[in-house]
Amino acid sequence: MANELAGKVAIITGGARGIGRASVELFVEEGAKVVIADVQDDEGAALAKELGSAARFKRTDVSKQEDVQSLVDYAVSEFGGLHIMFNNAGIGEGTQAPFLECDFSTFHRVIDVNLLGVIWGSQIAARHMAKNGGGSIINTSSIAGTQPNAGVFTYGAAKAGVNNFTQSIAIALGPHMIRCNVICPGNIPTSIGLYNEPGASPEQLEKLAAGIKAVRMNYQPLKRQGAGIDIAQAAVFLGGDRSAQITGLIMPVDAGATAGNVSNLGAEIAAVRAAALGE
Ligand SMILES: NC(=O)c1ccc[n+]([C@@H]2O[C@H](COP(=O)([O-])OP(=O)(O)OC[C@H]3O[C@@H](n4cnc5c(N)ncnc54)[C@H](O)[C@@H]3O)[C@@H](O)[C@H]2O)c1
Repeated sequence: MANELAGKVAIITGGARGIGRASVELFVEEGAKVVIADVQDDEGAALAKELGSAARFKRTDVSKQEDVQSLVDYAVSEFGGLHIMFNNAGIGEGTQAPFLECDFSTFHRVIDVNLLGVIWGSQIAARHMAKNGGGSIINTSSIAGTQPNAGVFTYGAAKAGVNNFTQSIAIALGPHMIRCNVICPGNIPTSIGLYNEPGASPEQLEKLAAGIKAVRMNYQPLKRQGAGIDIAQAAVFLGGDRSAQITGLIMPVDAGATAGNVSNLGAEIAAVRAAALGE
């Protein structure tokens, strides 16, 4: 691919690290002008500098409506418009106690960043797009938003909210030629996925990462380790004109982790029958 996004202006929130960073790099490679929005000043500014005239950094806390308004205004004034809003910033809820003991201490911040941040980003970008011929809104959810699990209660609820919200606005904004879609990543090693532990040695972190990757791989039919670039490729598709007829889509990019139950119930029952009946 080359120049898939030529002539387009994009905002990528959470663009300083991980999936967002990989997306910023690919969007620029594909010809877009990109505003990196993040709370990581040094990393965001350094990335913008590295990418040259096609990129800018704007410090933004996506949970603050006034920050998001300034961000959209900035993109329009620096690059003359806004065609793609990639609401990707997010935080984890941390390691939580089992449900019956959970104190939900991170509830408000997780909802503010992961759900309200997506709502502000979508609404404020859409107000500009509606007056300027349309655009594409891409919201990052998670496989936890479509496949509940007994471990991330607030995070999963926030991401399920992102899915429902995005489909609602796909309906509301269709008449304005604004497409709204969701990407649900799964198992992308970044700073969000419990790979970081303050105070741990490099050897401990390496061991931790290898252990988490091995556990997560068990849940993937496709035994390939994903990376930020895999999500970035999906975002380029949803941001660009090849997906012109697609809105309201919830797209997993997860090596099949949410395709179904990875266990083979039929084979397990056959084994039980064989043992019990001597078949
Ligand atoms: N990595 C995975 O396996 C995975 C799986 C499912 C969903 N996701 C989602 O992907 C998105 C990107 O996460 P990632 O894995 O790249 O993690 P990451 O921690 O590497 O990147 C997240 C970025 O968001 C920024 N951010 C956090 N709070 C912010 C705020 N209030 N305002 C602006 N920026 C803020 C961080 O500074 C960071 O640069 C998140 O929405 C996350 O929930 C990731």
